[in-house]
Amino acid sequence: MEYMNVFLEELIQKYSSDKKGAQASYIPELAKVNPDYFGIAVVTVDGDVYSAGDIEQNFTLQSASKPFVYGMALEEHGREFIRARVGVEPSGEAFNSIVELEKNTHRPYNPMINSGAIAISSYIQDKDKIKRLERVLNLFGDYVNHPVSVDEAVFQSEKKTAHRNRSIAHLLRHFDVIGDDIEESLDLYFKQCSVLINTVDLATMAATLANNGVQPKSQKQVIKEEYVSDMLSLMFTCGMYDTAGEWAYTVGLPAKSGVSGCILAVVPGKMGIAAYSPLIDQHGHSVRSVNAIKDLVKKYNLSIF
Ligand code: DON
Repeated sequence: MEYMNVFLEELIQKYSSDKKGAQASYIPELAKVNPDYFGIAVVTVDGDVYSAGDIEQNFTLQSASKPFVYGMALEEHGREFIRARVGVEPSGEAFNSIVELEKNTHRPYNPMINSGAIAISSYIQDKDKIKRLERVLNLFGDYVNHPVSVDEAVFQSEKKTAHRNRSIAHLLRHFDVIGDDIEESLDLYFKQCSVLINTVDLATMAATLANNGVQPKSQKQVIKEEYVSDMLSLMFTCGMYDTAGEWAYTVGLPAKSGVSGCILAVVPGKMGIAAYSPLIDQHGHSVRSVNAIKDLVKKYNLSIF
């Protein structure tokens, strides 16, 4: 680990010139982000931080929020309730696919794709007078060990253009997967996607999962240990959507990407990894982040196999 910072710096140098991909433009606000941002970080279960590049640059979590809110819903309702509504099978389809809802049980295949994540957000309810959003913000605040907020411009931008997610939500309502509070649940989903964090924060969130749900700095149990394996197994099989198989084969770690250009990966018992760079491929994964994490995993032999 001694030379980790040097190696991370080398990765930034190596991939900075790669201009492949494009910012997510279906959320217009994301298309405005500087495409050159590039950061990478490793946080160990002991709280040691290694990093290089634009690690203080904030970005929105987007789909990287999904496993964490899934964990929260499991704590709130238990495994049986959630599994009856959202499956645990990879869909093999794009993250925003709607077709699986027409098949078989009419349940979302898993909580990592939009249909499953929108359903999961709808199950986060007001509790003890603590509002749904406040609970979600508190959750992410606990994972990163400082208060977090929503990027209002990104939230509004997504809300205004979310015709596809809105149609998914209505189909979920049609099949009785979610209740009548469709707009409120979508708002919560868009807001969790718009939570601002930086690359070290994201690696810290990954490190918390690597550490059985205990935040490395605060030592707080942020998510019950019994649900960490639910989160990690679904990140492993479904977190990278229609490239989940290729990721499992070549990288061998549970991971999750977000269309802002972030990816987190978890090395159980050891460390969390995160990278951020806004140019994404057609699957919704940051091109530079995928390549940098692949190199890092190879160099330090981090695959779980
Ligand atoms: O719902 C959406 O489309 C976005 N808020 C999140 C999608 C996303 O991040 C897909 N992942 N790479």
